[in-house]
Amino acid sequence: MLSGTGALNFYDEGADAVRVRVPAKINLHLGVGDRRDDGYHHLTTVYQAISLYDEITIEANERAGIHVELAGEADHVIPVDDRNLAVAAVRLLAVHAGMKPHVSLRLRKRIPVAAGLAGGSADAAAALLAAARLWELPIERDELMNLAARLGSDVPFCLLGGTALGLGRGEQVRAVPSSGQYHWVVATSHGQLSTPAVYREVDRLREAGEGSYAADASSLLVAVRTGDARSLAGEVHNDMALAATTLRPEVLQVCEAGEADGALASLVSGSGPTVLFLARDQHHANALAGRLRMRRIAREVHIAHGPVQGAHLL
Ligand code: C5P
Repeated sequence: MLSGTGALNFYDEGADAVRVRVPAKINLHLGVGDRRDDGYHHLTTVYQAISLYDEITIEANERAGIHVELAGEADHVIPVDDRNLAVAAVRLLAVHAGMKPHVSLRLRKRIPVAAGLAGGSADAAAALLAAARLWELPIERDELMNLAARLGSDVPFCLLGGTALGLGRGEQVRAVPSSGQYHWVVATSHGQLSTPAVYREVDRLREAGEGSYAADASSLLVAVRTGDARSLAGEVHNDMALAATTLRPEVLQVCEAGEADGALASLVSGSGPTVLFLARDQHHANALAGRLRMRRIAREVHIAHGPVQGAHLL
């Protein structure tokens, strides 16, 4: 919790509070190209938003500044200053729109932190949407997407949600046709992985002749159009998986355990260390999650479905 938060006691009840819910993202396909001159990597990715949510509430405050309160299971170290992407998002929008950012932000985190699920980016997307509504800004979706891209590569997708192709450094997103629902078991890890560190490991492995480059995403895009989990299982891919498992070999053990327990596919989520398992249906996801919990190899085992909508007002 940040700075003298006594004034936030009435917060839950605030009549003018704006609440936004935002999903975690996973990458069904994550093709990492070479490092660009600006230090980012060319990406071809297919994102999917899944039903693990953070919630942000924003309210006008008489005191100057952006005051953050963390709610829920915030047992991770989450910065409450400008290093927090939600705070950065409110500040960016305030500068853009000429507003004074005198607000309280309440962050209910359920998306695991530094887990490859874009939790920080999700909060930034939610904060942009919430502040735009609080200040009643006549802002176009495209304008919001441009601001989102300035905050982080995954932030535009967190606004968009659904299933989408991501190009550039991941920030150029467009929805792709997808049918049905996929059921995922999400196994988080006791450790964390820093995204830049995993990208550096991708480069290092490739320089050592060990890394590979994904084929394009076309067959995966065909699979998501059919809505058939078995077809999708054969197509999911992540170019960062080798780097993540090199840095954290236990991630590989989690993948193997889920496959032995009957998952259709295992997939490292983004830069890891979370591992995703694709299930046949909800029932299968429940059974798989139960088996994985009994093994006690994951920090937490969640069940989620996708695609779901991006950041939205409650
Ligand atoms: O865009 P975002 O701030 O989320 O990226 C965090 C870090 O991940 C970047 O600073 C960069 O090191 C790495 N990154 C990358 N290529 C991308 C996206 C992120 O190298 N396409």
